[in-house]
Amino acid sequence: MIALACDHTGLELKEEIKQLLKELHLEWKDFGTDTHESCDYAVYGSRAARSVVSGECDRAILICGTGVGIGIAASKVKGTRVCTCSDVYTAELSKRHNNSNVLTMGARVVGVDLAKMIARHWLEAEFEGGRHQRRIDQIAALEDGAIL
Ligand code: RB5
Repeated sequence: MIALACDHTGLELKEEIKQLLKELHLEWKDFGTDTHESCDYAVYGSRAARSVVSGECDRAILICGTGVGIGIAASKVKGTRVCTCSDVYTAELSKRHNNSNVLTMGARVVGVDLAKMIARHWLEAEFEGGRHQRRIDQIAALEDGAIL
């Protein structure tokens, strides 16, 4: 199950991502927003992010104007590993090496086709584990105040 969320700038791109998910036979849960009325990305981004950490959803794709605000907001939800991407390489490696569980993109930054390509590569990539797991464990420890 893929969690989706956006602010008012990301509505159209979110709908395009739904088309991609359909093609990939993946289900989604849409955490809003649903209108073009100006809204606050932290509200919707955090709801979707929480659904990933709780296990209700497997990953989240979040969209705002730049991908940055909604990404920062999602990263404040403990347990998220957020990547804000505008290229395919970073998106894929963020899953393979960093086990990212939240992808954010900027609707004002990337075109529809590139955004769908980024999302597809990210969704199809798998975490490689091994030495990367140790690093992710360190990141988790940082959330609990560890000093490395
Ligand atoms: C909204 O105008 C815009 O600030 C927001 O979508 C996002 O880009 C913030 O990071």
